[in-house]
Amino acid sequence: MAQLPNSLEARDSAAQLHSYADARRQEETGALVIDRGEGIYVSDIHGKRYIEGMAGLWSVAVGFGEKRLVDAAARQMEKLPYYHTFTYKTHGPSIELAEKLIEMAPVPMSKVYFTNSGSEANDTAIKLIWYRSNALGQPQRKKIISRVRGYHGVTLASASLTGLPNNHRSFDLPIPQILHTTCPHYRSMKKEGESEADFAKRCAQDLEDMILAEGPDTIAAFFAEPVMGAGGVIVPPDGYWQAVQPVLKKYGILFVADEVICGFGRTGNMFGTQTYDLQPDMMTLSKALSSSYQPISALLINDDVYQPIADESHRIGVLGHGYTGSGHPVAAAVALENLKIIEERDLVGNVKAVAPLFRKRLDGLAENSLVVETRGIGLIGAAELFHEALAPTPGALGATANASFQENGLISRNMLDAMAFCPPLIITEAEINEMFDIAQASLDAVARSL
Ligand SMILES: Cc1ncc(COP(=O)(O)O)c(C=O)c1O
Repeated sequence: MAQLPNSLEARDSAAQLHSYADARRQEETGALVIDRGEGIYVSDIHGKRYIEGMAGLWSVAVGFGEKRLVDAAARQMEKLPYYHTFTYKTHGPSIELAEKLIEMAPVPMSKVYFTNSGSEANDTAIKLIWYRSNALGQPQRKKIISRVRGYHGVTLASASLTGLPNNHRSFDLPIPQILHTTCPHYRSMKKEGESEADFAKRCAQDLEDMILAEGPDTIAAFFAEPVMGAGGVIVPPDGYWQAVQPVLKKYGILFVADEVICGFGRTGNMFGTQTYDLQPDMMTLSKALSSSYQPISALLINDDVYQPIADESHRIGVLGHGYTGSGHPVAAAVALENLKIIEERDLVGNVKAVAPLFRKRLDGLAENSLVVETRGIGLIGAAELFHEALAPTPGALGATANASFQENGLISRNMLDAMAFCPPLIITEAEINEMFDIAQASLDAVARSL
């Protein structure tokens, strides 16, 4: 893509430093400037239409252009555009949303703490876990375990939880006290002759070995996504969660389910916690909470977590934590309306109904010689690509495929060489076919060109 002088592309490159981009490449090529959206589609400033196969960043559950969310925001802007939740103040939308999330939670939860992003929700979770350990007179219990290839955000602590090299490299991360255990990806991590069931058990054993080596009374919490997203859409093997959870229980380690992607229907149930029968003590939520029409996230904590924190804040006199935008009334009002839409239109039911076709079409991509694995659940999936000639540069094949998808009108995201599919939850069967027809034709073109 060449940039014309004074084009939006050129002005963008001149003025913005972008996330997840090579800044020098960006200076040369510019970015795709998206202008509008409707349903599962977005259009760029030149009028070209794309299927948003990633729902933005795994997030626009109700699709683009949802007027009810616009109206909810406008109504709240007129009534009370901003207020906070500090120093014994609050407001209606944050109260209603907190009550709604506690009611929806798949396991008993006691309190909601509002934040603005998934990263902040996870960061806040770590801070409150440390605060709680101190409250309980266990100042040594501060280490946190997450997983290689897990993704939990990019702030100092949440980037440390994230188990991806590019989120640590040159940032001097991870911070101390954060450890990473085995990634539950069977195909890449299995040992010679190891069955999937044995691999699942080994993952739990690796976790227990780490806990024992570090000292069980030093481990405060385990963070995990029910299904890993940005690490490449890693669906855990059968038996994984059944083996991992007892280990956490055995050593009194808190379980934080990062539901930032899985929450609100993505896996075919309202929460990934239900899909995998999880018993988390804390949950982090964002993205589909407001379909990302407004930045908002939430941390849910159960009573066992809450009570010592409440005691400690009383001892000190204040919980010294909070964001100006925590529970922002406009974001909360939009989230409430968004959740209403998800329930009224039974979008979880839609995920269940269309998931078999999504899976069939995803698996069908494996007819292409470049595809070595397909994986997914509900409306999230990935096709892993491999080609001998490009293997020395991980991500090169994925980037080529991504460019071809985009050229042909489909926005996906390559996580190295895994192509992700995570469309809005409103997608129809006809649209799923349209999406995978483009993916298939694009991969065929890439295969021919190699
Ligand atoms: C599972 C998960 N947790 C946390 C985050 C971080 O969220 P944010 O980008 O809003 O900080 C993401 C973002 O993609 C995510 O996928």
